[in-house]
Amino acid sequence: MKSDILDMSNLCKNKLSELDDYIASLEGNKQEQLIHVLHKAQGLFGYLPHNLQLYVARALDLPAAKVNGVVTFYSYFTEKPTGKNVICVCMGTACYVKGAQKVLDEVLKQTNSKKNDISPDGLFTVKEVRCIGACGLAPVMTVNDKVYGNVDEREIADIISKFKGGHNEN
Ligand code: FES
Repeated sequence: MKSDILDMSNLCKNKLSELDDYIASLEGNKQEQLIHVLHKAQGLFGYLPHNLQLYVARALDLPAAKVNGVVTFYSYFTEKPTGKNVICVCMGTACYVKGAQKVLDEVLKQTNSKKNDISPDGLFTVKEVRCIGACGLAPVMTVNDKVYGNVDEREIADIISKFKGGHNEN
């Protein structure tokens, strides 16, 4: 699989082997486990560039458009490299009416970022997402896997500072 496809020269072969092993270990219908495979691939590579999506499509014998459709549908998946920490600010309705725009503006200011870009220090990528299912805690943001609820924009500098300076909470 590894040698017969596309230009994989800039993707680490060890990681591809690990992805192959993961796919081989799946039981049942592998095509139905596309999301798990993409999850694993993003965990290994940090993001899902087009050639990696094609690799997954070939490995699972699925159309590339189907794989890309899933990648672009779920805000968890990213096609571009990200900063060391990924911050998601929920802009769903419940969060929006509770001030999510102010949260987003403050997060962008504190990280010196533009939406969906890597901050100049490489530490952050800030994304806007739809409802993450924690509406009771609105407004909500996440940093990597950690969820912050009832976020007040005055707390944001403090939250962000935990992920600066070479240490983070995860
Ligand atoms: S709208 Fe933000 S968590 Fe549901």
